[in-house]
Amino acid sequence: MDYTLTQDAPDTIATECLVVGVHENGVLSDAAASLDQALDGEVAAIVQRGDIEGKPGQTLPVVRTNARARRIILVGVGAHGDCRPAAFREALGGAARAVADLHVASFVSFLPEIVVKDRSASWALEQAVAVTGDSLYRFDRLKTRAVKRPSPTGCTFSARALDPAAAQAALAAGSALTRAVSFARDLANLPANMCTPSYLADQARALGERAGLTVTVLEKADMEALGMGALLAVARGTHEPAKLLILEYRGAGESAPIALVGKGVTFDSGGISLKPPANMDEMKFDMCGAATVLATIQAAAELKLPINVVGLVPATENLPGGSAIKPGDVVTSLSGQTIEILNTDAEGRLILSDALTYAERFKPAAMIDIATLTGACVIALGAQAAGLMTNDEALGDELTSAGQTMVDRIWPLPLWEEYQKQLDSNFADMANVGGREAGTITAACFLSRFADHASWAHLDIAGVAYKGGKEKGATGRPVPLLVEFLRRRAQAP
Ligand code: BES
Ligand code: MN
Ligand code: ZN
Repeated sequence: MDYTLTQDAPDTIATECLVVGVHENGVLSDAAASLDQALDGEVAAIVQRGDIEGKPGQTLPVVRTNARARRIILVGVGAHGDCRPAAFREALGGAARAVADLHVASFVSFLPEIVVKDRSASWALEQAVAVTGDSLYRFDRLKTRAVKRPSPTGCTFSARALDPAAAQAALAAGSALTRAVSFARDLANLPANMCTPSYLADQARALGERAGLTVTVLEKADMEALGMGALLAVARGTHEPAKLLILEYRGAGESAPIALVGKGVTFDSGGISLKPPANMDEMKFDMCGAATVLATIQAAAELKLPINVVGLVPATENLPGGSAIKPGDVVTSLSGQTIEILNTDAEGRLILSDALTYAERFKPAAMIDIATLTGACVIALGAQAAGLMTNDEALGDELTSAGQTMVDRIWPLPLWEEYQKQLDSNFADMANVGGREAGTITAACFLSRFADHASWAHLDIAGVAYKGGKEKGATGRPVPLLVEFLRRRAQAP
């Protein structure tokens, strides 16, 4: 998609399709009002007929044969003076879908002019670009027959609310964001027979080439030499070789990096503790944390953020097999701590534990792991918020605020000492599961034992990283949150 900006008034623009907002109670947005004037009151008359109430995301296409714009799409943007950020995003998404339903190659949208509650005009324009890109995303590379008409390829946004430099910056940020989000979605949507640990390694190397990163891939022999017994334990059941990807982006000289650690289980069958068959296909999404890390670093590099970031991705399949780990097996992690594996389906924390320990050598300013870690988190928070658990409240607040800004939200769960004893083992330093109660928290408790060298936060993204059912597919969350977090860290002295 090609994004451009315009300073022109809506009634002067010749286009296949013009998008303008309408508020509730028949109030026209400024753009709709000036169009209305040029069309002798026709827009107001359409709204008065009641076909569109102005609810966020509602759309009404109007075909024009005698205006400069061949078609006009009216889009509900909520009550006048009270357009909340999430409602604004719904309006942008609704508009993009309405445009995609028409046979148009390009369109011009005035939605970035809408005043959004508690947000700047820059934010609105950046979101306009990002949400439009995200809404037009399709994953059809594995279909041999075209199923839908082609998406529009050109989109022009009104930049009248901003000075030219700020508008250009917002456009660049929005398009870097949507490119990153669609990169993450592509990686995650690709099935597990194609998106293997080796494929992720190739993708990391290719990203390194195009973004100027240092990329290192640790192979099985390297991990054996290091003593990554927890990661290698998970990899025992599969023939696909495990990898540990290390991506280094340097935008700020020698300063301490932010470490991003992403769970890269390219397929999670549960191993010997086999999962039930229903929806098991969705366990191809168990590498969404890995996809998030690659995509976030891509955006950081594209935006040339003055910050250092190191991405660590432990990647493997989790399958049952003749050599697979069994319940009761005890392994030694890179940290030297021993782990009794009571459930082979709690594999994410095993591979992350070695990656978190390995991250110590980068002396990170902060370390954030991102993982589809527990089904319990889906039950606790659903698809609205990812779970946040941290050993550093200030870091947690920074992440929460960044997520709030981007409408890519997270919510804290406690990491109290009292939960730790659920991991007691009779045979090793700890067990890898803590029973049914507080499953999301005990998973984080496990990770905390490998993260005590750093300011650390854990994001359990099991509920937000992908959708099931008719809309099955990856969302690209929490890439926007992390990009915003890095932008803020890069600005801070
Ligand atoms: N990848 C799963 C978590 C998951 C479950 C993500 C459902 C998305 C949807 C993880 O490896 C897992 O299997 N966790 C177990 C932990 C349990 C054995 C303590 C779970 O949540 O059931
Ligand atoms: Mn599992
Ligand atoms: Zn898993």
